[in-house]
Amino acid sequence: MKRLAVVGFGFMGLTHSLSILRNKDLKLAAIVDADLSVIEKNLDGNGGNLSTGTIDPGELEGIHKYSNLDDCLRSEDLDAVIICVHVNLHYEMAKKVLLYEKDVFVEKPFCLDTIQAEELISLADQKKKVLMVGHVVRFMPPYQKIKHWIDSKEFGNLRFLSLSRFCGLPGWGQWKEKNVRELSGGALFDLAIHDIDFDTLIAKRCFMFGTSGSVRNDMIIVLDKTNNNMLNTDISVDAISGIAGAIDGITAVENRTQ
Ligand SMILES: NC(=O)c1ccc[n+]([C@@H]2O[C@H](COP(=O)([O-])OP(=O)(O)OC[C@H]3O[C@@H](n4cnc5c(N)ncnc54)[C@H](O)[C@@H]3O)[C@@H](O)[C@H]2O)c1
Repeated sequence: MKRLAVVGFGFMGLTHSLSILRNKDLKLAAIVDADLSVIEKNLDGNGGNLSTGTIDPGELEGIHKYSNLDDCLRSEDLDAVIICVHVNLHYEMAKKVLLYEKDVFVEKPFCLDTIQAEELISLADQKKKVLMVGHVVRFMPPYQKIKHWIDSKEFGNLRFLSLSRFCGLPGWGQWKEKNVRELSGGALFDLAIHDIDFDTLIAKRCFMFGTSGSVRNDMIIVLDKTNNNMLNTDISVDAISGIAGAIDGITAVENRTQ
């Protein structure tokens, strides 16, 4: 039976703990949170954008609780650690876990800095440990269906794919605290990352970022350009809207909803 620790007992910490508790091959050995009082408060499963379930307080009896990762790694005999804190802590925590020679699962977004991300990938290779990022959306049935349609060419070759993500200012996770929000890369990293990940999965690199002003007509214009070979949709996001433009658009949405 694999022994796991969950770090950060907010929305995702609860979600992962619940999955571990319901899996007979896994043992939730420890929970780490800088604020131990949240463990009891977050058991009702109302901390995120949807309810992923609830944990009965009795189910956590006998599970060791720590207020920092170092104490947990020093004291526990673990196979893997699930990191569910905000992105600004992902690099240092994942590195620590890999140096302890444990497998590590890091919630999305992986890191804000590609140099740090590449360092973690090399370290995991060197230590022969699993390093996985929590990109869950690619496993959801509607996305799997789109991937199936693309791969099977059921409707012919994919020519154009528009992925947009719209919401008001989120009231969960990093968005609750201004200082954490500012360290977290904003909507591009926290929300649009799901669409960027899906694009990576289908390996098409051909979507248009839906920004605050994007309407159907914009998509028709892009589609016309694609059909007339005026746009190389195999290249990248910035072939279409410009990554800088996408970031500006997302920032505009954030500012408008604050
Ligand atoms: N896969 C998904 O669909 C999905 C959904 C929501 C969030 N996330 C990701 O999960 C991560 C966590 O988000 P969340 O919504 O669960 O946040 P949250 O605010 O609900 O929980 C974060 C927890 O981390 C704890 N924490 C802060 N600093 C700590 C430290 N130094 N050591 C230990 N614990 C510490 C906080 O006390 C808090 O309980 C983020 O990276 C977020 O992007 C993923």
